[in-house]
Amino acid sequence: MRSKNLLTVLLLFCVCTMHAQNNNAGITIKKTAGFPQFLINGKPFLMLGGELGNSSTSNIDYLKPSWKYLQQMHLNTVLVPVYWELLEPEENKFDFTLVDGMIADARQHNMKIVFLWFGTWKNSMSCYAPLWMKKDPKRFPRTLDTASRSQEIFSAFGKQTLEADKKAFAALMRHTKEFDGTDKTVIMVQVENEIGMLPTSREFSATADSYFNTKLPADLMSWLQKNKNNLVPELKEKWEKQNFKTNENWKNTFGEGVWTDEIFQAWYYARYTNEVALAGKKEYDLPMYVNAALPRPGKLPGQYPSAGPLPQVMDIWQAGAPALDMLSPDFYNPSTKYWCDLYVRNNNVLFVPEMQFDKTCAAKAFFIIGHYKALGFSPFSIESENNASVPLAKSYDVLQQLTPFIVNKQWMDMDGFLLDKQNKSISVKMDQYNLTVSHEATLSWSSEAKDSVWSTTGGMILQTAPGEFLVAGTGIVVTFENTDKNLVTNIAAVDEVRYENGKEIKGRRMNGDQDHQGRHVRFSVGEWGIQKVQLYNSPAKIDN
Ligand code: DGJ
Repeated sequence: MRSKNLLTVLLLFCVCTMHAQNNNAGITIKKTAGFPQFLINGKPFLMLGGELGNSSTSNIDYLKPSWKYLQQMHLNTVLVPVYWELLEPEENKFDFTLVDGMIADARQHNMKIVFLWFGTWKNSMSCYAPLWMKKDPKRFPRTLDTASRSQEIFSAFGKQTLEADKKAFAALMRHTKEFDGTDKTVIMVQVENEIGMLPTSREFSATADSYFNTKLPADLMSWLQKNKNNLVPELKEKWEKQNFKTNENWKNTFGEGVWTDEIFQAWYYARYTNEVALAGKKEYDLPMYVNAALPRPGKLPGQYPSAGPLPQVMDIWQAGAPALDMLSPDFYNPSTKYWCDLYVRNNNVLFVPEMQFDKTCAAKAFFIIGHYKALGFSPFSIESENNASVPLAKSYDVLQQLTPFIVNKQWMDMDGFLLDKQNKSISVKMDQYNLTVSHEATLSWSSEAKDSVWSTTGGMILQTAPGEFLVAGTGIVVTFENTDKNLVTNIAAVDEVRYENGKEIKGRRMNGDQDHQGRHVRFSVGEWGIQKVQLYNSPAKIDN
């Protein structure tokens, strides 16, 4: 009898583990410090992506003409909106036609997909929620504007709203697993889109106020205490000013004002999103992230979408939404370095799901992938040009060739660079060398040298062996010096190279004018490529 019971337990255990394993998509993010990897069936993958315009996947035919351009632009990943209103037009009746159609088209063009779940929130609003929800504010409560009028924004405290979102998202993930679990065309999911409270710094309903006036939830407080010394300074300072109080309401813990409102609202957004993500992961465990609308300088919470996954509340999001794999910034401002530096704190891995699709993207792709070891890069409205010769396409061509080196860590060191007239030069040490990477217009003979505005240029450098470097990019000049003053470093050889299916194909030997008679390695503005550099050292002083 006992052994029969044991057998049943064992059997149950096996069934459960099998079920858990089945949910695992085999797609993970390995967060090794300084070198994160996105793995598909154990193989590292770099997302050279583009996000589609908001309405572009609401009709399967609309995108058909664009696929070939996306392919020619060397994209390997497309970020694809999935609309709740079209997925569940009637409660509990799901329509996966668009989802399946997108997956089929992506497969045909050898491309991966990141789904963007336009669920409860899309840029603060709830415009993508189904109409049957919008018309039932009793069941699905809304937030209020400054005049206390109802807005088309669902409250983060709406329990039935959360359940409805969980159910729809779980249905999407279940279906994706059934339809795509073997092929793995869909590799990641964004949960909601640019969550954030407007036009107030937090919700001000009676329910929200009652939460705001009670003690901080115990799970958050214990997380804060455990991580007290590692909190981002923006948050730690606020708590410190209140003498690190542990048993108080939100106002007494972080002080009075809109910044505390933001912290409070961020917690409830994070809890909500975590539940949605968990419901989806239970069905199909793909990596998931949230994206943030970055505030304009000087704006206060509520003037910008308050409480999204922003740097000053990243601890709150990480504590409240452990089911999420990353917090990701969307770039519609020029301060790339400023924001990226903030987003790689707290072991957050960088992925840029949106960036203004202008010509500066081409240089930014090198910088973000080379410097921050980002898992991917993806300008917004990528199908808007249908033009395979845009600058980004040239950068993606280079990045695609370098991908095996980048993702398999076939480098001793790697860095990326972003340059313009304000940031003319950057110095970096690699192994025994000091490298100076400058804008091409720093050369007096460059076509842009006398212009008031210089193009945004950039590149990346991989040290592949002692004294050997792959330099890639556009509009940059690189010089090498030995850190040991007793040694002089010179260029032994510079060769143009291409990589095709793992094979190196040599182009020109870049000597004479091309390397300024042995002084530097260069890509002019408007020129893209990879050059392989070999250095040699000789004594600085020679006794003859
Ligand atoms: C950021 C959003 O996340 C996108 O969906 C889109 O609305 C862009 N802004 C700009 O149009």
